[in-house]
Amino acid sequence: MKILITGGAGYIGSHTIIEILENTDWEVISVDNYANSSEATYKRIKEITNKQFQYYNVDLKDVEATKKVFEANPDISGIIHFAAFKAVPESVAKPLTYYDNNINSLINILSCQKEFNVPNLIFSSSCSVYGNVNELPVTEETLLEKAESPYAYTKQIGERIVDDFIIVNNNYKAISLRYFNPVGAHKSGLNGELPLTTPNNLVPYITQTAIGKLKQLTIFGGDYPTADGTCIRDYIHVSDIASAHVLALQKLIENKDFQNHNIINLGTGKGVSVLEAVKAFEKVSGKKLNYVIGKRREGDVQAIYANNQKAQQLLGWKPIYNIEDMMLSAWKWEQNLQNNL
Ligand code: UFG
Repeated sequence: MKILITGGAGYIGSHTIIEILENTDWEVISVDNYANSSEATYKRIKEITNKQFQYYNVDLKDVEATKKVFEANPDISGIIHFAAFKAVPESVAKPLTYYDNNINSLINILSCQKEFNVPNLIFSSSCSVYGNVNELPVTEETLLEKAESPYAYTKQIGERIVDDFIIVNNNYKAISLRYFNPVGAHKSGLNGELPLTTPNNLVPYITQTAIGKLKQLTIFGGDYPTADGTCIRDYIHVSDIASAHVLALQKLIENKDFQNHNIINLGTGKGVSVLEAVKAFEKVSGKKLNYVIGKRREGDVQAIYANNQKAQQLLGWKPIYNIEDMMLSAWKWEQNLQNNL
């Protein structure tokens, strides 16, 4: 069975390819344009898994180029659509770039799904769709508040597009997975997050500061109405996110009466503050982190964490890693990167 992974050289995409190659007999076809990733990641995947797969350098905004991948592989059984821009502050600064990239590539993937009759789709959504909610933890039934950033809005719109597509094409099935904050690296330390420029996200910022690539971490806001004044997130190990994709696709393939478009939270269910994340890093690495508390960052929500019952019940999924495992694996990866591994 052939599975198309878009954004397969990216952070979550690459970990999902590893998970698929290690645990299934599915054939992987990856598409990426390396806008925020590197082709070298494929080499790492092959080293870890000792398996081969196909890959294409294609910008999914280019519908003709995208079609060619489907023409070359007319028997694809499922698509996992990761490819998207994902940095909240960058999306605030460049809204049109985000709408153009994230929406048009989704539309092109869906039109190919229809044209080439691919029955199953997994769409990468995000907890940022919830906005600033009043009640925590959030369930999939929690009403979505205003998207706090263009990035978050592309995911709200994206889910709606998938919904509208599935309603009129009811021989297709989809699952939108709302990721909370994916962090950490493969347990081998051989694959992890690879920001091409200064990272926006907390964990690579922490590890790059600790290793000396960056001078100091600024914690964005110490005056939020939370226990220690810093924002709360539900950090989830990227390999737990990856394993959920395999289960989700298996469900769609095996279970013909599965609801046409399911939306499922992927989080640990545990809220961790930025300061707690820093402390967890310091504990597992034995290093003191140089940080200051600075101003709030535009587009940030104050607190968000998941109710993950639906993922547990529908997919039979359970995250296995805690915040210390996440930090330790991310640290191992950062050290390996420094040693030019
Ligand atoms: N943070 C800092 N300093 C930094 C970077 C981040 O204090 O240098 C704080 C943020 O203010 C936030 C927390 O760390 O409170 C997490 O920030 P991230 O940028 O790592 O992640 P976000 O919560 O902004 O989440 C966004 C998207 C998610 C996506 C995630 C990873 O909303 O959908 O980025 O890409 F999964």
